[in-house]
Amino acid sequence: MSILIKNGHLVNASENFDADIYVEGEKIIEIGENLVKPGAEVIDASGMLVFPGGVDPHVHLEMPFMGTYSADDYSTGTLAALHGGTTMVIDFILQTQGDSLANALKTWQDKSQGRAYGDYGYHMAVTDYNESTRKEIRQMIEEEGITSFKTFMAYKGALMIDDNQMVGLMTEVKKQGGMVTVHATNGDMIDHLIHKFKKEGKVSPLYHYLSQPEVTEAEASARFGDLAHYTGVPAYIVHMTCEGALNSVRDATKRNQTVLVETCIQYLLLDASLYDKGFESAKWVMSPPLREKKDIEALWAGIDQGLVKVVATDHCPFTWEQKKLGEDDFAKIPNGHPAIEHRMELLFSEGVTTGKITLPKFVEVSSTNAAKLFGMYPKKGCLAIGSDADLVIFDPNEKHTISAKTHHMNTDYSGYEGREVTGKTKTVLLRGKVAIDQGEVKVDKGYGQYVFRNKVDGKL
Ligand code: URP
Ligand code: ZN
Ligand code: ZN
Repeated sequence: MSILIKNGHLVNASENFDADIYVEGEKIIEIGENLVKPGAEVIDASGMLVFPGGVDPHVHLEMPFMGTYSADDYSTGTLAALHGGTTMVIDFILQTQGDSLANALKTWQDKSQGRAYGDYGYHMAVTDYNESTRKEIRQMIEEEGITSFKTFMAYKGALMIDDNQMVGLMTEVKKQGGMVTVHATNGDMIDHLIHKFKKEGKVSPLYHYLSQPEVTEAEASARFGDLAHYTGVPAYIVHMTCEGALNSVRDATKRNQTVLVETCIQYLLLDASLYDKGFESAKWVMSPPLREKKDIEALWAGIDQGLVKVVATDHCPFTWEQKKLGEDDFAKIPNGHPAIEHRMELLFSEGVTTGKITLPKFVEVSSTNAAKLFGMYPKKGCLAIGSDADLVIFDPNEKHTISAKTHHMNTDYSGYEGREVTGKTKTVLLRGKVAIDQGEVKVDKGYGQYVFRNKVDGKL
């Protein structure tokens, strides 16, 4: 099977130019002007952008969490991602405390095999680091292609590890050629504030926000950076939201320790005024919470400065029925929101169309950097000869409106209901096959493949 995409404007993280692109089997074979390929299916991309399929390295599919499961599974989640131009996601396996990494991996393999529409990889969340976990790290990296290990400095009693475990994990992961990533907020301080508010009878979603002030994230980010500096492990902070945390990373950078930063699309677009809507605010109950306008500005500036490397989603969707588990207690509202489908379009609309970021920067933070940092480049994350033919044909001018009535995620509301965006995903190729065309699905469930990732060094 071969496809010739003609007359598009190609965008990579390093350059953009007009060219044709020729795909054979699963790979990009040729990029050039006026290509002629008899027998190939021709797609006319006049007036369109053509860029690498998005890589979203932070999603939670069918994850057991806060007494329920996130509402998108591998099938609905990766399909919604494809509709929005994201061809590859990295999901989080959660180790059960007291159990092995191998058993957790098996559970996630059972959920994913034969079910995904788009390609996927796994991070391993280490929630119980001990001598037997230590021995499994090498196997995860060498035999399973899982080269990033997620830690939680919050969610005490379920997912959180202490600094003793963190230093042990960092030391072993550094030795074996992986990266440690973190949910960096101070779990003890958050728990203190939750209990204080509940004792005062303050139980609405607003108090979710107030129980995670900026200092909880700034402190934990700095501490994580310090421990990473001491151990020398490649270190990555997920879903950073605020100026204080960014400044702690700037301090680490001064000492020559690079702490890599990911933010998520919601933290670039939405602010804490959404917590003023009574229980409706549960739609935006996520951790860390949305922040202030000054933080939004700091994050966009961080992208511009190259400090923020990746824009992900932290897609962790719950239906309204699930959110209602916390109707009488904000601490029981399942944390997370649906976003996997609209990351690329929102980032394009609010970033490129407004002039905040360039087209290459858009590709860098939505695809290329994640592919590089997580050991998949140049297979993923670029339009280059020999790379997987994962690409998006995108109309930069088409306007459309986001709504739960038309989205493909498994939630009955959207955090962006009624928002008009400029720029639309028209056609998506995944490993050389048209996967989405004009809103229609062209691949079968199970087409998505597991991606074995290489060792990483934290360098771009
Ligand atoms: O609210 C969130 N972020 N839910 C998912 C779990 C996590 O902390 O990433
Ligand atoms: Zn988190
Ligand atoms: Zn997350």
